[in-house]
Amino acid sequence: AEAPAQVTVHGDQPAPKFDRRIFGQFAEHLGTGIYGGIWVGKGSKVPNVNGYRRDVIDALKAIRVPVIRWPGGCFADEYHWREGVGPQAKRKVKINTNWGGVTEDNRFGTHEFMNYSEAVGAEAYVSGNIGSAPPFEMAEWVEYMTSPTGSSLAKERAANGRKEPWKVPMFGLGNELWGCGGEMRPEYAADVTRRYSAFVKVPEGVKIMKIASGANSGDYNWTEVMMREAGRQFDGIGVHYYTIPYTWGHKGAATGFDEDQWARTLAKTLKMDEYITGHAKVMDKYDPKKRVALLVDEWGTWYDVEPGTNPGFLYQQNSLRDALVTSLNFDIFARHTDRLRGANIAQMVNVLQSMLLTDGSRMVKTPTYWVFDLYKDYQDGTVLPVDVESRWYNKNEWTMRTVSASAVRGVDGAIHMGLTNVDPNRPETVTVKLDGVSGGAVSGRIVTADAIDAHNTFDKPDVVKPAAFTGATLSGNRLTVTLPPKSVVMLDIR
Ligand code: AHR
Repeated sequence: AEAPAQVTVHGDQPAPKFDRRIFGQFAEHLGTGIYGGIWVGKGSKVPNVNGYRRDVIDALKAIRVPVIRWPGGCFADEYHWREGVGPQAKRKVKINTNWGGVTEDNRFGTHEFMNYSEAVGAEAYVSGNIGSAPPFEMAEWVEYMTSPTGSSLAKERAANGRKEPWKVPMFGLGNELWGCGGEMRPEYAADVTRRYSAFVKVPEGVKIMKIASGANSGDYNWTEVMMREAGRQFDGIGVHYYTIPYTWGHKGAATGFDEDQWARTLAKTLKMDEYITGHAKVMDKYDPKKRVALLVDEWGTWYDVEPGTNPGFLYQQNSLRDALVTSLNFDIFARHTDRLRGANIAQMVNVLQSMLLTDGSRMVKTPTYWVFDLYKDYQDGTVLPVDVESRWYNKNEWTMRTVSASAVRGVDGAIHMGLTNVDPNRPETVTVKLDGVSGGAVSGRIVTADAIDAHNTFDKPDVVKPAAFTGATLSGNRLTVTLPPKSVVMLDIR
């Protein structure tokens, strides 16, 4: 028989905390991500609270969504905030040029978003328009949202229904400035970032984190130039990396795939580690004290859209494979918390790798949602470094270790340990050595299913969902765990 996998948890070498913002979401004006997905309007037959879907709010609160990024994405650099305030019926109707060419009537604007974030209990990460609006427009938006009563903009806000300023803890200086955000060279983007950053001002004593538009995947030169030329003008910089099984032209289907596609998707998602390592290294050169945070402010799987849906709506199913993509990324994020202080999965509802899918008044929780649920006690917990030794899983040219793991000491004092077995065919026995950790009892939950592409539909919403896990035994500081094939397990040691 094969030797069991070995995992060592270094409870005596605590690493920086797993910032709750790493569980951030992204909600763009794209497809039915906003309209239909979170907003249905007060008159809708879909049960709602002030126009917001009740089922979606409840589901998001249950996983403690810490941050929502809005309004884009590509949409952000064509967004004019003034068109989205004031009486809804009078708002300007535009074409959403990025996403399907549909009309955008601006019913969901600043008030609707900021109040939504508050209702969910999440921080707002608002992305400004650098690509196509002048700096004063951005400056006025920030003033409108954050200034206390007094100025004309604060009065206008009050007249529109909100007297108290909102908190805007995170503010994006454009999005993908190298692409849809303005097709800029990094040198130009750095200058533009400096200029716009100079006009983002908040009242005395109010904090706003300015986040520069980051690189695409492994474009380290982008980070290099931005950090070198503009690094003092922002507090965070993004990076976007999407997991695409094949190519942009032919990405691969969300369900109905074979084991080669399973393996290639997981292998490709593991590239996240290399990219974060590379960008962090560049940042260390210009910011050795790690003042500037790295944020993976767009990540997740990107497949071909579901047959028959609008190609511009990026609507895709979500399977057990996405559950493993999620846990593997959380494990990677845990290894980089010295620099990585935020991430936003793309996207929250009905778009790309979403938490929730809706159809009229129906809603399903995706396998990805359930992994966010499993890992939620990582939020703000102290990361405990882990070493993993396991056999290799191979399929064609795709090779990876069968076991992936991470661990934190939660703010609740318990140890939470995520374990993934990527092998779809064989179980894996793991021996875990807990250094510097004392615990009396272990309990756990598991997400797995019979098929690699198992997923939840509106008719069968509970095919993939967590179950109690009883495959772990604790004796002293040793755990023995048997992970079923293709599974994600969260253990709690108390
Ligand atoms: O998430 C979809 C799109 O992907 C975003 O609008 C853009 O920033 C990225 O290219």
